This record gives sequence, structure tokens and C-alpha cells, in this order.
Amino acid sequence: MNQRTLILIKPDGLKRRLSGNIIQKLENKGLNIVALKLVKVTEEMAKRHYSVHENKPFFNDLVRYITSDPVVAMIMEGKNAIAVVRNLVGATDGSKAAPGTIRGDYSISIDKNIIHASDSEESYNHEGPIFFNANEIYPFSYGDENLF
Ligand code: CMP
Repeated sequence: MNQRTLILIKPDGLKRRLSGNIIQKLENKGLNIVALKLVKVTEEMAKRHYSVHENKPFFNDLVRYITSDPVVAMIMEGKNAIAVVRNLVGATDGSKAAPGTIRGDYSISIDKNIIHASDSEESYNHEGPIFFNANEIYPFSYGDENLF
């Protein structure tokens, strides 16, 4: 099933200059970038994006962190993209994420965990429009869809 997923390289990932490595890993797997930009997330965007966590004790810290510096926002597309990306991203807590995953290789904490990716189609439908308008998404049609 062809799917899209929203990916954010969080401020720690961008500032540690990991964006290229992360994008490379996702592209190597066979996922296609269909939208990409730097975004300074506003408090309003952050509260909407993380609304499922609004009653959690870490909610205010989460909003403060994601709004602190720019993020790389991307939509990637591919077969089972949501599950495929979540597997590549690894467990939420970097100290527990498996080696070889993005968080497993680059993060040792639960808050500065490098990357966010949609965890379901419902999440993508909620998060995607917070970061991208429909006219900023370019359906993948480079002519090599059958390489993978
Ligand atoms: P993310 O995938 O962006 O989605 C919610 C975020 O909450 C998660 O990554 C973590 O970075 C962050 N977070 C901070 N503290 C906690 C916690 N105690 N439990 C779960 N998530 C946390």
C-alpha cells in the first residue's frame, strides 16, 4: 500500500548536522521525498501537532523543545511508508532503541530523540496539514518507481 508519512528532524538532529545522514537512510530504503522545508514551529503548531499528549506531564517541555529552533519537515512516500519509517526510526527512548535504527545510532534520551514520524494514517492525516499545504506536495513521478 502506497502511503505518506510526516517526518520531522527535530532541533537536536538539525543542530548536530544529522539531516543528511537521516535523509540518506530513508531514501536508501526506497522512500521518496514529496515535500521538504525548514520550519520554525510556532507554539500553536506544536500544541496541535502534539495534542494527543496534552495531558502528559512532559507536554510543556515537548512544546518548548520543538519550538526552540528550526526543524526539517518532510513528507515521504512509499510502500507501507508509515511502518517502514517507524521501524527505521526505532523506539521512542534513544537509550533503548535498537542499534542500526536512527534513534539507536544517534540518541541516548527520550526527549532529544532526533526525529518524529507519524505512527498511523490517522496521525498523518492530523499532522501533515499542520506542516504542509496540498500545493507544497509533489507526487513522486521521476519514472523509476520499480527500482525497489
Ligand atoms: P515523538 O515521536 O516526537 O512523539 C512524542 C514525543 O514525546 C516523543 O517523540 C518524545 O520525544 C517525547 N517525550 C518526552 N518525554 C517523554 C516520555 N516520558 N514518554 C514518552 N515520550 C516522551
